[in-house]
Amino acid sequence: MRKKVSPVPAHIGIIMDGNGRWAQQRGQRRTQGHLEGLKAAKRVVKAASDLGVRYLTLYTFSTENWKRAAEEVGFIMGLVRQYLRGELDFYRENRIRIRHAGDTAGLPPDIAGELRKAAEDTGGFDGMQVILALNYGGRDEIVRAARRLAASGPRAEITEAAISAHLDNPDVPDPDLIIRSAGEFRISNFLLWEGAYAEYLVSPKFWPDWTGEDLERAIEDFRGRNRRFGGTVK
Ligand code: IPE
Ligand code: IPE
Ligand code: MG
Repeated sequence: MRKKVSPVPAHIGIIMDGNGRWAQQRGQRRTQGHLEGLKAAKRVVKAASDLGVRYLTLYTFSTENWKRAAEEVGFIMGLVRQYLRGELDFYRENRIRIRHAGDTAGLPPDIAGELRKAAEDTGGFDGMQVILALNYGGRDEIVRAARRLAASGPRAEITEAAISAHLDNPDVPDPDLIIRSAGEFRISNFLLWEGAYAEYLVSPKFWPDWTGEDLERAIEDFRGRNRRFGGTVK
């Protein structure tokens, strides 16, 4: 009997980890790692779009990352600003739509503004959707969804469907594959609700070393898996 091969995952989430270690290993500053990490993100976005992925969620900055030194946080926010402003031609050429997941209210106002503008400018594109998880925490998203649901009326029914409908991007399907670079076997508060039945893949490579080929290999690995969703083997 032929082995069942899954299609390309419609939605991939990536925990882009290891920028700091990549830099430290080279005797460089952590910020240099973030700079190289942005280059890797661009490579992987292009590869995902070419491979036919429909949604790509990039874990860019967590609700816990504010604990870091002000210099590092400021540098990452600067890179995000630069990315959002500088890539419009690339989005247009590749029909890529930019969206945000996370708590907008807790972001520096200029970054929130850039995100809104990029989402507006690319809102009509019908290619892959890139969801930037920025000031994102899975628990925080569930709490905000519960608040929105409670505010929707005194008779709001609490069901899985109702909570899902109040998440940050309710129309985006759950991730099929969640990748973590840099070898850590933990979820670090990423897509807790949506990732209930995602396939997980941990790669030892630091994020700045990631290429489109690494994504291709991850997709190949995913395609050989047998997803059961609590059922039995088909
Ligand atoms: C991921 O790389 C980027 C962010 C969390 C913003 P890290 O900065 O966490 O790199 P390591 O884990 O310290 O190597
Ligand atoms: C997760 O990485 C967050 C992002 C990649 C944006 P962290 O480096 O913050 O996670 P921990 O601290 O190792 O769990
Ligand atoms: Mg890290």
